Amino acid sequence: MSTKMNRRNFIATAGAAGAGALLSSIPGVAGAQRKSSQKTAEKSDKIRVAVVGTGSRGTRMWGKRVIDDYGDLVEYVGLCDTNIGRLEASKKYMGATCKTYTDFDLMMKETKPEILIVTTVDSTHDEFIIKGLNYGSNILTEKPMTTDEVKCQAILDAQRKSGKEVIVTFNYRFSPHRAKIWELIHSGEIGEVTSIDFHWYLDTSHGADYFRRWHRKREFGGSLWVHKASHHFDLLGWWLDSEPVEVFAYGDLEFYGKNGKFRGKNCRTCSFKDTCDFYWDVNKNSYYKMLYTDNEHHDGYLRDGCVFKEDVDIFDKMCASIKYANGAQVSYSLTAYSPYEGYRIAFNGTKGRIDAWIQESNPVHDGEYDEIMITRNFGKRNYVRIPQAEGHGGGDKLMHDKIWRKVKEDPFKQTANLRDGAFAILTGVAARISCDTGKPIKIADLTDLKPTAKKA
Ligand SMILES: NC(=O)c1ccc[n+]([C@@H]2O[C@H](COP(=O)([O-])OP(=O)(O)OC[C@H]3O[C@@H](n4cnc5c(N)ncnc54)[C@H](O)[C@@H]3O)[C@@H](O)[C@H]2O)c1
Repeated sequence: MSTKMNRRNFIATAGAAGAGALLSSIPGVAGAQRKSSQKTAEKSDKIRVAVVGTGSRGTRMWGKRVIDDYGDLVEYVGLCDTNIGRLEASKKYMGATCKTYTDFDLMMKETKPEILIVTTVDSTHDEFIIKGLNYGSNILTEKPMTTDEVKCQAILDAQRKSGKEVIVTFNYRFSPHRAKIWELIHSGEIGEVTSIDFHWYLDTSHGADYFRRWHRKREFGGSLWVHKASHHFDLLGWWLDSEPVEVFAYGDLEFYGKNGKFRGKNCRTCSFKDTCDFYWDVNKNSYYKMLYTDNEHHDGYLRDGCVFKEDVDIFDKMCASIKYANGAQVSYSLTAYSPYEGYRIAFNGTKGRIDAWIQESNPVHDGEYDEIMITRNFGKRNYVRIPQAEGHGGGDKLMHDKIWRKVKEDPFKQTANLRDGAFAILTGVAARISCDTGKPIKIADLTDLKPTAKKA
């Protein structure tokens, strides 16, 4: 899709969805926009950006796409990664011209970025967010903001001390389908939302991929309760306009990891290639080959690790009951070995119910739209159709536009701040602790953040 086409689409959608100034307070953004609109942008007026973590997400979403579509507003001043081969491959793929670094502190001292983008392994986000704030940068961090409550508190403290901004890039809020749900709820269509049924399915391709990579270990991704479900917990808080107070959860590992009948180290070297349903040739994907397999001799990281490795210590089926400060109750589940990918959600309100579902893979029918069903108590039922779009339901592109272009309104409150990022991971951390202890966990016991019934 061309840049022009994307921009037109954005404007068309923005009419309905509106737009907000995600980084309005970040120095340089307003100036860069003004110059850009006059088509006179000087190099020095561009937003100076550095990236730490040039893996898949850092290279495409936070690298090439930004350079290709927002090069008039953004200047990359530094790229950093511990894998020197991946770092250089990423720079080439992005088309960046800046210096590369394996030493993060050196990059920050030399380049002094206005915005540091953090796209490393989840458990290392805290280190770079805190250091970045201390170096005087604003932070754009990929979700999850961090992986436990101690790191979360340290980030909160560092941000308060620095006075800089931390934005968690929750792209899921930006899909038009989910924005429509937000609009329907907030227009009072079903009265007060009193409870939500939310069930997410990861399939045997995407779901399995978490068990091949670093995500399979709690120490790196905080388990899928944090790495994956924090996306969903953020959506819940956003839709409900409230914050979580208590979580009770169960989780088990009964499909991947130790449950396999056989195992190898990774797919390429495996002796069960012909019989294993999960055999996958990573080198057939040229992007992955370029980033990972061509550079595995630098750090030994195997992108095609066996999903049945004995060291998997995360859950592959999870369920939780979550209570929100406004009294709403949520029944949530996540299954990581489904035959199709997607979710089902229902909002029960005092005046009716909203049902919505998305099937991202193996769809029942080939559709061009997704549906939302609204049923009123004692009243009529009607359907809303939302056109389907690429890139997390079209959310990635909309979020980019909101970050890099100057826009004033945020009618759907799609901007996720530090507090939102914290509550999203704390819900997952509480669920993980609950699974381990068998006890309900109060969110207020985890950090100094106290949940409020209605978001400020
Ligand atoms: N919002 C979304 O939809 C979405 C999608 C994919 C990934 N993500 C997030 O993006 C982040 C990156 O994910 P990915 O899929 O690109 O993973 P990845 O493994 O491809 O990339 C991580 C990179 O970080 C580097 N790294 C690790 N530790 C480092 C350190 N201490 N210093 C410097 N570099 C270090 C690795 O070498 C690697 O290149 C994760 O936090 C993930 O949760 C978000």
